[in-house]
Amino acid sequence: MPLVIGVPKETAAGEKRVATVPEVVEKLIKLGFAVAVQSGAGDAANFSDDAYRGAGAEVVDGAAALWAKADIVFKVRGPSAEEVGLVREGTTLISFIWPAQNSELMQQLAARKATVLAIDSLPRTLSRAQKMDALTSQAGVAGYRAVIEAANAFGRFFNGQITAAGKVPPAKVFIAGAGVAGLAAIGTAAGLGAIVRANDTRAEVADQVVSLGGEFVKVDYEEEGSGGGGYAKVMSEGFQQAQREMYAKQAKEVDIIVTTALIPGKPAPRLITAEMVKSMKPGSVIVDMAAEQGGNCELTEPGQAVVKHGVTIIGYTDLVGRLSRQSSTLYATNLFRLAEELCKTKDGTINVNMDDDAIRGLTVIKEGTITWPPPPPKQAATPPAAKPAAAAPAAKGGHGHGHGAGEPMAGSTLAIMFAVAAALFWLIGAYAPASFLGHFTVFVLACFIGYMVIWNVTPSLHTPLMSVTNAISSIIAIGALVQIAPPLVDGATGRPDELIRWLAVAGIGLTAINMFGGFAVTRRMLAMFRK
Ligand code: NAI
Repeated sequence: MPLVIGVPKETAAGEKRVATVPEVVEKLIKLGFAVAVQSGAGDAANFSDDAYRGAGAEVVDGAAALWAKADIVFKVRGPSAEEVGLVREGTTLISFIWPAQNSELMQQLAARKATVLAIDSLPRTLSRAQKMDALTSQAGVAGYRAVIEAANAFGRFFNGQITAAGKVPPAKVFIAGAGVAGLAAIGTAAGLGAIVRANDTRAEVADQVVSLGGEFVKVDYEEEGSGGGGYAKVMSEGFQQAQREMYAKQAKEVDIIVTTALIPGKPAPRLITAEMVKSMKPGSVIVDMAAEQGGNCELTEPGQAVVKHGVTIIGYTDLVGRLSRQSSTLYATNLFRLAEELCKTKDGTINVNMDDDAIRGLTVIKEGTITWPPPPPKQAATPPAAKPAAAAPAAKGGHGHGHGAGEPMAGSTLAIMFAVAAALFWLIGAYAPASFLGHFTVFVLACFIGYMVIWNVTPSLHTPLMSVTNAISSIIAIGALVQIAPPLVDGATGRPDELIRWLAVAGIGLTAINMFGGFAVTRRMLAMFRK
């Protein structure tokens, strides 16, 4: 018997999304599951019961009947108290849970002996997990919609225009916080033709801002803002002061501000003060995407659009729901990818494999036992800042002076190695023929340079590196061919040996393919890394 995936109608007020959509129902059935959808579940996202039926789902009347049928429940929001009462022993629930903020809900679900996978607890830095990352897919929708809301409230064009009726300057948009939502907002605003600027406390996002058509505005204060796991930390008072000055300057210049700054588990940082709002041009717009977490702007009213000091301040907390069809489709795909991971056998059964890093992170309750928070990941993601630091001593070593400066143990070992190598070199020099010594010196130097060059190539460029070394190896092969070829003369006739000559020509031709092909492939691969 295949397991039944049940999709109830969301009960939270104003929630318009649904956890699966008809096109994904078909894919779930192909994985071997049966799908049951509560009647009306997709109404607010424009998916009718008939569409679900057409895709092969059973449409069930009422939440109680749906929960009674389902072995696995796909939901968007965490269950309400009423829904918790419908959870059967052994049910697997997959939805947003936010276990850190909802300990009571966690206790209740554990008491029902359910297994709960919190989609918000996915270890996002695992590249394998990206396809299941609902936080990212939903933040992207919200960032897009924030700009559309701003455009709707703004009384002018976004793009600059020269018309018979006059010249229109492009709108200036400032994005505070360039995480997933901020980057989506930058792309959308730039696509509409605005001049876009953005700021974030994590310096690593500057390149992403530029690649999406924005300009990164730095705070004039040196402090790294990464707090681990790709998230931000609370900044020092000195930084905040410098940041306020920069934001105050931007507020005077720009027409639209979209704020997205969040710090996990902390209230949203206050970035836009009442003074800054007052200093903005009349008709300007602020969209505060952090409204639900306390707001980045002092004057935001969560859930409302208000006009204060001539500036429209939008604090909607349902930006994702305002594009419910789109956000539901993306969320449904995230859950389908998760279903694939849980059901590798494609037979409609699931295996909540706690040895899998992604599944382990997601599983907050396993058969009634709370398994949140997960242990730290086995393979800690390398913080980006650690790389240059680690590379620095190696680079120093390359000059030959700094060997082991900070490490006395490694220093003495190296000294011994150098002494042995020098003695060996002397021995070879004393006994080998002079011609050998020349070649040998070149060989040793080539090894040394090759080692130094290759060791400093970042892992992401190893594939093009391999193809270029393949190409270089062909040059070596040609050299070898010339070296080992017998004299091209037939001993009996004294004329060039045609057979050997043509064989050599063919050999060089084949090696040339490898050589030029290697360079061409390298070029194409490197092009993929260039914007
Ligand atoms: P978020 O929603 O927690 O925060 C939004 C942004 O606000 C962040 O970029 C943060 O640095 C910024 N911020 C916080 N305090 C600020 C302040 N005082 N001033 C200015 N900006 C401030 O973060 P989100 O969007 O959920 O993701 C954070 C990062 O994690 C993203 O850059 C994303 O690329 C990364 N990520 C990485 C993944 C991966 O490696 N596979 C997957 C998903 C996200």
